[in-house]
Amino acid sequence: MSMLDDSGMAQAPGDVPRMRAAARDLRFSAIREVANAGIGRSDILPFWFGEPDRQTPEFICAAAQASLAAGETFYTPNLGEPALRGAMARYLSSWHRPIEENRIAITNSGVSALMLAAQALYSPGDRVVVVTPVWPNLVEIPKILGARVTEVPLALCADPRGVLRWDLDLAALLAALTPGTRALVINSPNNPSGWVMPAAQQEQVLAHCRRHGIWIVSDEVYGRLVFDAPPERCAPSFLDIADPLDRLIVINSFSKSWMMTGWRLGWMVVPAALLEDLGKLIEYNSSCAPAFVQKAGVAAVSQGESVLRETLSRFRTARDFLYQRLSALPGIDAPLPAGAMYLFFRVAGLRDSLALCKALAAEAGLGLAPGSAFGPAGEGCIRWCFASSLEKLDRGVDRFSAFLATGYLQHSA
Ligand SMILES: Cc1ncc(COP(=O)(O)O)c(C=O)c1O
Repeated sequence: MSMLDDSGMAQAPGDVPRMRAAARDLRFSAIREVANAGIGRSDILPFWFGEPDRQTPEFICAAAQASLAAGETFYTPNLGEPALRGAMARYLSSWHRPIEENRIAITNSGVSALMLAAQALYSPGDRVVVVTPVWPNLVEIPKILGARVTEVPLALCADPRGVLRWDLDLAALLAALTPGTRALVINSPNNPSGWVMPAAQQEQVLAHCRRHGIWIVSDEVYGRLVFDAPPERCAPSFLDIADPLDRLIVINSFSKSWMMTGWRLGWMVVPAALLEDLGKLIEYNSSCAPAFVQKAGVAAVSQGESVLRETLSRFRTARDFLYQRLSALPGIDAPLPAGAMYLFFRVAGLRDSLALCKALAAEAGLGLAPGSAFGPAGEGCIRWCFASSLEKLDRGVDRFSAFLATGYLQHSA
């Protein structure tokens, strides 16, 4: 049987059915691999997944319960309930340039929005440039459609005062965005590094992409989680600078800002001309988001501001605490993240972050995510989700430093 595909081949006895090569070649999530290594340890301290530490606020749950009690258990419009699309238009217009409802589609999660964007844009062989390290889904999803991904890495740099930060070499990114490139995928604030793309860089990228007809797919799911700006500011967004006709798709989600990871609700902002076809894609993927989940979304977006501010202040305290504790450990280069909810730090002498994270899970009861899960640019680093209590973070750092003190890195070198 062909190693590539089994289509068109007569089935011989013993032949194993296969998926398309593009699907088979997808990477397994290294974060899941680590979590599996911790199975059976009931005392694990988990900081490996990107999840807020608290349940969804009560007023959001109550909106969903009221919807269910009212019998709202039926299919909804492909592009989302008018009430939620209207609420999103008001919300987005209050943060960015005016965004009309005819540019907004509701999706069953941020990751589903990323897949829809890929289905809308990529044909086999298309070149897609992704800034990494990044949440693996952004690199793997284009490949499902047969696109070829080129990675442009951020670098860990020290400023003149020796302060570390993740930085983008803008010239390298623009050089990678060659004519004929189909799309740039960019995630800011960035998972895992916390890097936030400055507005001035966004301006230059937009101008370059306009010049060459390149789409921008901007994943802004952590856009409200920025720590060094007043709470009435969000991260710089392409929606602040783009015109309605720009080739721009912005992906967002209720998961992180409103502590709704399990609800599976997200949205996309697209040029209005795409909306009708996007509705068809949604029909053939999931058809629609559930009515009661969308009611929860309306509550979140229209009454969630005080919860969000409280979350932001809690996360900022947690970030500063973890940063201070980790920075005090020998061999740790930890930049202070400007956004998102992770510390992404380099460990001197670390060559195999997956092996270290597996060992930490199995032997130290500590769940961290290996840097290599976020692409080659992340190797040598570890991601630590700080959306947690200070007490747990404190115990986690104790376990981490005790484990490193056993000489693991020297033995594994
Ligand atoms: C960068 C980024 N984009 C998108 C998502 C997807 O969010 P969800 O599918 O929960 O809406 C995540 C989740 O971790 C993420 O980190």
